[in-house]
Amino acid sequence: MDLYQPSKEFAERANLRAGADYEALISDARSDPEGFWEQIAESELHWFRKWDSVLDDSEHPFYKWFVGARTNMSFNCLDRHCQTERRDRPAILWEGERGDRRELTYQQLLEAVQRFSNVLKARGYRAGDRAILYMPMVPELPVAMLACARLGIIHSVVFAGFSSEALKTRILDLDASLVVTADGGWRRGKVVPLKQAVDEALDDCPGVRDVIVYRRTRSEITMQQGRDSWWDDLEAGVPADCPAEELDSEHPLYVLYTSGTTGKPKGIVHTTGGYQLQVSMAMRWVFDIKDEDIYWCAADIGWVTGHSYIVYGPLLVGTTTVIYEGAPDYPGPDRFWSLVDRYKVNVFYTSPTAIRAFIRFGDEYPGRHDLSSLRLLGSVGEPINPSAWEWYHSVIGGGRCPIVDTWWQTETGSIMISPVPGVTALKPGSGTFPLPGISADVVDGEGRPVKPGGEGYLVVRKPWPSMFRTLWGDPERFIETYWSQMPGLYFVGDAARKDEDGYIWVLGRVDDVMNVSGHRLSTAELESTLVRHTAVAEAAVVGMPDELTGQAVIAFVTPIRGNDPTDELAAELRDWVAQQIGKFCRPKQIRFSDALPKTRSGKIMRRLLREIVTTSRVTGDITTLEDLSVINRLAAQQDEERDGD
Ligand code: WT7
Repeated sequence: MDLYQPSKEFAERANLRAGADYEALISDARSDPEGFWEQIAESELHWFRKWDSVLDDSEHPFYKWFVGARTNMSFNCLDRHCQTERRDRPAILWEGERGDRRELTYQQLLEAVQRFSNVLKARGYRAGDRAILYMPMVPELPVAMLACARLGIIHSVVFAGFSSEALKTRILDLDASLVVTADGGWRRGKVVPLKQAVDEALDDCPGVRDVIVYRRTRSEITMQQGRDSWWDDLEAGVPADCPAEELDSEHPLYVLYTSGTTGKPKGIVHTTGGYQLQVSMAMRWVFDIKDEDIYWCAADIGWVTGHSYIVYGPLLVGTTTVIYEGAPDYPGPDRFWSLVDRYKVNVFYTSPTAIRAFIRFGDEYPGRHDLSSLRLLGSVGEPINPSAWEWYHSVIGGGRCPIVDTWWQTETGSIMISPVPGVTALKPGSGTFPLPGISADVVDGEGRPVKPGGEGYLVVRKPWPSMFRTLWGDPERFIETYWSQMPGLYFVGDAARKDEDGYIWVLGRVDDVMNVSGHRLSTAELESTLVRHTAVAEAAVVGMPDELTGQAVIAFVTPIRGNDPTDELAAELRDWVAQQIGKFCRPKQIRFSDALPKTRSGKIMRRLLREIVTTSRVTGDITTLEDLSVINRLAAQQDEERDGD
């Protein structure tokens, strides 16, 4: 297997270098983890008050970091830099899908954030209140996030691709009293009707007092008297001066919903002090950020990648973050490369799914632009297949840019396993090693480390600063899902392999969670959505390997008697899921079947369905199967699907 060593040129300028810096960090973190994080916290961030202790582990698994300290994320992202020359550097370089551009310096961003903070204050919002942000990718989304953070209002960004149903579930679960949205957003030349979705959701959410609407598309919308106000109107005459609250280190910064193994999404709770520390360090260690860098994470702010590495991480370290509103192939398949060229992006971070899509579009599109500003590339969200890695490396990176394949999760808050670009020799497809201070490991069913060459479960042994603290309103599920599988260890939910050299290869989920285009989807959530449709008796959803999206959603459906299994019904069900949860969840295929394989106790055997869609054969144990003929029929159907391809 090819090893890619860091070039001499890159290694010499790297923030972390082989030998002294890197090895010292690793060994300091091992011998005294708390002292290690404490020392970095002192120099890296501003604290209004220092902590009494670094880590409180007395109530496992409810850990607390920097106990007793007072700090503020918005202050660390903005005010701190505005006390220096950085104030006049661009914080955000923004481009709309239709080509409109905006640049906000740190000083301008600080003023915008303070103004909006004052708006929120004037409406009576205070630390601990919850705000839903359902916005397009415009600078006002980070402005709203940072304003909430400034006052201690807990924000929950809902990805603009989610439907009104999904939005409603989140508003209710969080008992939010404020929604910030826009009259629309641009996506592939069309308006995404965000305000309309809010209106639909709010029919059932009496707790929401205010809807603040940012004017983006000038689409026709209805404003409800007494509830809805325009962002601009509220800001008129409001002073741009609002001091940051001195918040407890453990004050919740945000809740972000993610899919689990049941139908109900989990509200991942992140707090302030530890999160800002680890996110900040990843910017330095993994993205090797320098003062003059232009950095672009081409994710959506609605997912955790966008929270940590479009908004908070880059601003914490005072770099310039590029934000692009729209689709990667709009108006043409070279849109991303035109942005890299125009803004002279140095560090670029995207997902394997996007990379595979670019490979399909063809090399001529990156070829049209000067990509020589790039010096480092990143990948996140799913395992990257070595051939996509090689393409990214040679065609986008011109063979000179290291690739950091970063493994982490909504729950971990920040990157956990990744190459350190000036140090680690890369193997395409491997996230390589845990970062300094992170005790990730691959273990067997009993929690013992696997031997080199072995496969097992990915776990984290010791608490880490940016870890999620609980699930919103459901501490029992927090314990049960993550801390009960292997006593004392954080159970990640991924399978992994450790090779002969100790490199970690993440293989994918071991639970009923799919990864489609780097987005986490729950089989149970999709199934319960399908059975809510009036034509569906039963449904089972599995992931099928897919060349482009990693996995694709295949739904096995038993219709209620009297509903013919037609192509029209299949199309209707696919749309139903898109409408109920979001377009990105639309099943690739619906397969009708008059029965689903079940155990004698009536549990659907998804494992068999997975095998059918993957290999069109069933080899595993089927002794508990109730009716063998079901499997034969489904396998035959799979063969037909194949022939049809
Ligand atoms: C799951 C987390 C972290 C931001 C995006 C997804 C998979 C993530 C990698 C990677 C292999 C990866 C894992 C993980 N995953 N990054 N570099 N290599 N797999 O966040 O929705 O919380 O999903 O994504 O399965 O558990 P998420």
